[in-house]
Amino acid sequence: MADAISIYLINPEQLQSEHTDSTNWCQASGFSGKAGSWCLVPDATGKIAKVLVGKPDQVETWTLADLPKTLPAGTYSLADRLSTKDATKLYLGWQLGSYSFDRYKLTKAGLLATLQPPENADAEYVKATTEATYLVRDLITTPSNNMGPDQLEETARNLADNYDAKVSVIAGGELVIENYPMIYAVGKASTRAPRLIDLRWSPPNTSPDAPKISLVGKGVCFDSGGLDIKSATGMRLMKKDMGGAAQVLGLAKLIMAMALPVNLRVLVAAVENSIAGNALRPLDILTSRKGTTIEVGNTDAEGRLVLADALWEASSEDPDLLIDCATLTGAARVALGTELPAFFCNDDQTIGDLLSVGRTLDDPLWNLPLHAPYRSMLDSPVADMNNIASSSYGGAITAALFLQEFIQTDIPWIHMDLMAYNMRSLPGRPEGGEAMGMRALFELIRQRIE
Ligand code: BES
Ligand code: ZN
Ligand code: ZN
Repeated sequence: MADAISIYLINPEQLQSEHTDSTNWCQASGFSGKAGSWCLVPDATGKIAKVLVGKPDQVETWTLADLPKTLPAGTYSLADRLSTKDATKLYLGWQLGSYSFDRYKLTKAGLLATLQPPENADAEYVKATTEATYLVRDLITTPSNNMGPDQLEETARNLADNYDAKVSVIAGGELVIENYPMIYAVGKASTRAPRLIDLRWSPPNTSPDAPKISLVGKGVCFDSGGLDIKSATGMRLMKKDMGGAAQVLGLAKLIMAMALPVNLRVLVAAVENSIAGNALRPLDILTSRKGTTIEVGNTDAEGRLVLADALWEASSEDPDLLIDCATLTGAARVALGTELPAFFCNDDQTIGDLLSVGRTLDDPLWNLPLHAPYRSMLDSPVADMNNIASSSYGGAITAALFLQEFIQTDIPWIHMDLMAYNMRSLPGRPEGGEAMGMRALFELIRQRIE
């Protein structure tokens, strides 16, 4: 389009050699072409002639991600011809940086600077990824009064309508009849019925032999801790305890939008961990879907209980890859901080692949070990297993080992323990709910089926 404003990615040398008409202006504005800075250059009439952006050694997703909200509203285009990889990254970063959560604001965000799809960018991927990420962010940031198990179900049903998938839901007392005792036990004290949401999808004409990918999400719509109640500070962010469910729904949306030739199944265990006369108590003993008994050492370790029943079901179908996402432990945050999700995996090749795609896509994650000797810390004197470990150290690992007990047979399994929330705003990642590791997981799946 003729009147889009050009954005040039430049280094200090290019500023001197290729933008001689702008050097005085840039000098007066204190812009030297340093990576991470940018400068608006006016024409003789005072209109914006172009934008110069300091180019980092390596372009990353976030290089332009602050611009949509900081440049004057209008249409922009990239002047440089970039590789598909770089063009796609920059375009995605721009789109992710255009997000704001204004559902509850009377005054909505104003007009933004928009970027024309850069030549070479994979616009289909960017659109699908942007929409999936926005969905994840919206679901997590929406407060619990408007995001209960019923709204998670509604979200899955909407996805199914849009992509021609099938959803079935087992809710309330039905969970007991259908043998999901632990999902029921965790969620029964809430006025909003617990449920297992089960979505299945394959693109048209998919062979039944196409890879089976199964996703499981922790959908604790609010985690008060239960009778082992959390402190006020500990509870403050617990609307985001359905972040794992949000992330698998986002990942499913991305897989469906990109029409990956897979047989997809998504299981979301959606509950609210509430306090009432009928709430789960410390030292109650539950029988799991697997048939083993679990002593409830702590009602605040609820995520692993609901996931256990869902994982036992998911793994019964022998998928080619099983992934669960969960805001499972504070310990994972102590180990890696809030911006780096921890993942556990029983397959070394998959560990390497996931680390590598995470690095390439600016969607970093880090591997922690399924250290088998710690398994005995989950022993219970009265039941087959306890839901908390006897040691307060290594909590992310013992939680993962608990889940591993519910993986039937030797299938490749990834467990992601994530924060699902930006505690600070970074370029392209505003404070609030966030998909973390979703793009890496998508790429891993895409590479697997190639
Ligand atoms: N939802 C929390 C874990 C959590 C806390 C994730 C903060 C991210 C940020 C989970 O249900 C929980 O409460 N876990 C307990 C387990 C403990 C009781 C063994 C924890 O991490 O303290
Ligand atoms: Zn908890
Ligand atoms: Zn929780």
